Amino acid sequence: MNQVRQLHTTRANTNTDRSAGAGASTKRGPRVVSITSGKGGVGKTLTTVNFAVVARKMGYSVTILDGDLGMANVDIVLGVQARYNIKEVLDGHVSLKDIIVEGPLGIRVIPSGSGISGLSNLTCVQKQNILDQINQLDEQSDLLLIDTGAGISETVMTLNSSADHVVVVTTPEPHAMTDAYALMKVLSEERGVREVSLLVNQTKSPDEGQKTADRLKGVAAKFLRLEINYVGHVPADVLVARSVMQRRAATEQSVMTLGGQAWSQISRTLLTDLFATSKDDSNTSVWQSLLWSDAMQSAVAR
Ligand SMILES: Nc1ncnc2c1ncn2[C@@H]1O[C@H](COP(=O)(O)OP(=O)(O)OP(=O)(O)O)[C@@H](O)[C@H]1O
Ligand SMILES: [Mg+2]
Repeated sequence: MNQVRQLHTTRANTNTDRSAGAGASTKRGPRVVSITSGKGGVGKTLTTVNFAVVARKMGYSVTILDGDLGMANVDIVLGVQARYNIKEVLDGHVSLKDIIVEGPLGIRVIPSGSGISGLSNLTCVQKQNILDQINQLDEQSDLLLIDTGAGISETVMTLNSSADHVVVVTTPEPHAMTDAYALMKVLSEERGVREVSLLVNQTKSPDEGQKTADRLKGVAAKFLRLEINYVGHVPADVLVARSVMQRRAATEQSVMTLGGQAWSQISRTLLTDLFATSKDDSNTSVWQSLLWSDAMQSAVAR
């Protein structure tokens, strides 16, 4: 049986054994949400940061994994300074807990940089060592948000397929929509993902958001076994760009900008749903997936 597919088909558990809200922390590892896109620059990092801010305000402890290999993203948007990243952990210079930086509202960031792609090349002993360190960290968070890179690389797909929930971000621009579709096709056909949330960013009107979602949903319904849940649109807003420039996205956006208000509303709905559903413990952790992705690859090939 295809291991990767099994990860997702075993995820349809909808028992509600816990209520949403502050203090509903899981001792069985955090809920994992990946924020991803086909095309770059569409708003993944801002979506992640706004999601984290709302989760903190709801009382959850949050860690963001910056899964973007090309550019440091999250630390810049949050205005925190990362001294190390996972590469230094792999090289044995520091332990995982030493690389975490704390940002506004106590949001914790794991600056991974290019270290993430090196995770699958470790020896078994190194992998176990990292997993042990990660398990200790996992116990401290209710929510792990993964800000993935753009596109359909192996690392991006592994991050997405190991999350409990995937949020796809696109803009109404044709290129962004085409790339979002390509990403969803790979998620559905190669990774067995059956459901994603879709957020349309930088819209000129609510209508534009809805039309973008309808188009993607229409094509997916025809050609993919994938349910797309449209969670809403975020308007293009010059104040959003300004708050990023001033590194005040986390503290100002949700109160000061229309974009931030839209993100807040969407995040609140998503989080309420996420924490109202019991976590499927048969799900392999994101870290295990990354560390053992070679094994997963051969499982896919079989
Ligand atoms: N709703 C919005 N209104 C105005 N500007 C926006 C909005 N969303 C994003 N932007 C602009 O787009 C830029 C890119 O956003 P962001 O960094 O979140 O994208 P990304 O998908 O993470 O990019 P990358 O693929 O490079 O990691 C922001 O710095 C901001 O200037
Ligand atoms: Mg980014």
